[in-house]
Amino acid sequence: MRANFWIKAWGEGNIGFHQADIHPALQKYWPELEAGASVLVPLCGKSRDLLWLEERGLDVIGIEFVESAVLDFFCENDLTWNKSVQYGHPCYRAHERNIRLFVTDFIQFAKDYDGQPIASLYDRAALVALPEDMRADYVSACKKLLNTSPQGLLITMEYDQAAMEGPPFSVAVAEVERHWEGKLKLVEQADILSSMPRAVASGVQRLDEYVWVF
Ligand SMILES: C[S@@+](CC[C@H](N)C(=O)[O-])C[C@H]1O[C@@H](n2cnc3c(N)ncnc32)[C@H](O)[C@@H]1O
Repeated sequence: MRANFWIKAWGEGNIGFHQADIHPALQKYWPELEAGASVLVPLCGKSRDLLWLEERGLDVIGIEFVESAVLDFFCENDLTWNKSVQYGHPCYRAHERNIRLFVTDFIQFAKDYDGQPIASLYDRAALVALPEDMRADYVSACKKLLNTSPQGLLITMEYDQAAMEGPPFSVAVAEVERHWEGKLKLVEQADILSSMPRAVASGVQRLDEYVWVF
């Protein structure tokens, strides 16, 4: 979706995607990585999963283009921060945690990034936040930032797109496999319709969440 859509959603507090709890797939499937390894969290919002990843000893790099979301993340988690510029993009770094959040467009960030290849990816509600015509560029940007055999998790969902407008968008299993060219293994599929009131109200009959491991 375009920036204006998300600026409006955050401004109106229309952020049903935000979860108070850590995503259960992290506890179950996140790989053991060496301390200090980097993790890319594209389209991170103010996800509390950033904290969980940092508590694993990881160097967390989030990208989110709505500044108020990033400021909410720091304030709601009692963190202080300083602002600088890295790779040509505004970087908000927590003082108390090894978390950097870049307030910028993810695709442009990937083009400009000239740091070390990033070791892992955590994508929850990022690929599925984007309409079909933006998803190939998004995955290419991830690949540009990551090392050649990244680790991590991707969480997607699939439902009858005719019954409800995205985001979140339904992304078919075959599309995920096409984008990621055999790098991912599907480890879990669960019907989460009851946790999505908008989908229930729209008449969606079934909505499955898929957990993929690199
Ligand atoms: C559905 S939310 C998911 C947030 C987070 N991953 C979570 O699980 O709570 C998608 C987020 O991506 C941000 N976003 C969308 N497109 C973006 C882009 N091109 N660059 C940076 N952030 C983007 C939106 O502002 C929004 O906060």
